Amino acid sequence: MTALSLTINGRAIGPIEVRDDLSMNDFLREVLGMTGTKFGCGAAQCLSCAVIVDEDGASSTRPTCIAPAVDFNGLTIRTVEGHAAGGALTPLQVSFIEHFAFQCGYCTPGFLNEGQVFLERLARDPIPRAELERTITEALDGHLCRCSGYVKYHEAVRAVVLADAGRYLT
Ligand code: FES
Ligand code: FES
Repeated sequence: MTALSLTINGRAIGPIEVRDDLSMNDFLREVLGMTGTKFGCGAAQCLSCAVIVDEDGASSTRPTCIAPAVDFNGLTIRTVEGHAAGGALTPLQVSFIEHFAFQCGYCTPGFLNEGQVFLERLARDPIPRAELERTITEALDGHLCRCSGYVKYHEAVRAVVLADAGRYLT
């Protein structure tokens, strides 16, 4: 057993005693009741279970299905539940809806987290318009959608960038 402490969506969690073999996905869903993070393949292949990890001034996504919860000890993470502040959807969430980017929605938390990390990266380090399509494709690569919503997700992310081009593009 390990005493697990971390920050989730700005809230300090723990210390909570957890089994060392408890996955981060089960910790979120079963221990904390945060079911926004999904469990898909269970083999680090689909990224439907990915959360955002904030560290060293940058952010990245990390799957939770095969990762022990104790590996997240001391980290600061964000889940899909943390995007909308005060009930107001983020521009990316609105764009997902406007573009009908999801069908069953099972992959959506992973795409949302990845898209948010992508937008924050562009805000720090804008790119030329000519590189946008390739960069979005690369950013979303690895996320699987069994409803085949790839084009819609791509278009939704692109729309957010183009709606605030002065922020995201050089
Ligand atoms: S459920 Fe974790 S990568 Fe598929
Ligand atoms: S919307 Fe169903 S898996 Fe992506």
